[in-house]
Amino acid sequence: MSDLQIAAASAADLGAVLAFWKTAAEGASISDDLPGVGQLHARDPHALLLARRDGELVGTVIAGFDGWRCHLYRLAVHPEHRRQGIGAALLAAAEERFSELGGRRADAMVLDRNTPAHAAWRAGGYHPEDHWTRWVKPLEG
Ligand SMILES: CC(C)(COP(=O)(O)OP(=O)(O)OC[C@H]1O[C@@H](n2cnc3c(N)ncnc32)[C@H](O)[C@@H]1OP(=O)(O)O)[C@@H](O)C(=O)NCCC(=O)NCCS
Repeated sequence: MSDLQIAAASAADLGAVLAFWKTAAEGASISDDLPGVGQLHARDPHALLLARRDGELVGTVIAGFDGWRCHLYRLAVHPEHRRQGIGAALLAAAEERFSELGGRRADAMVLDRNTPAHAAWRAGGYHPEDHWTRWVKPLEG
């Protein structure tokens, strides 16, 4: 992993990140556009972490801390770079950020059908809590 660089995204990276997610991420979100990811970046410029190898974007994770909880989103590694420890390195970087900010527990929403990801999360020390269900309400513009 010596050639892997993990750093916060710059505003100039955001278009490339959206394109990367189309190839590498699982699922889509209501915030998957430039205004959405731009708002994340403006509110917390260090939350979106990018992994690069030889300058190429190979992985992402969003490590969001709102002062109360530590949420992980968009853990994604380019299909041609998987099983090389990049996902684990991104999780380690996210957890380091949470610890520096005083966070106490990290969590992630993981699709029940996304079994390959379950293995990656478990390998990182995460486990499901089956007594929760996500409750949502779209907000009017
Ligand atoms: C999930 C994902 C981010 C893992 O990234 P990765 O860089 O391949 O993960 P790592 O190489 O760090 O794997 C660490 C460990 O997790 C486990 N693991 C990861 N992917 C696995 C898979 N497909 N099957 C079984 N175990 C897996 C293994 O224990 C692995 O260690 P090993 O390779 O030494 O056996 C990647 O598969 C991905 O981008 N998937 C599509 C997007 C996605 O589903 N993201 C999660 C959304 S909740």
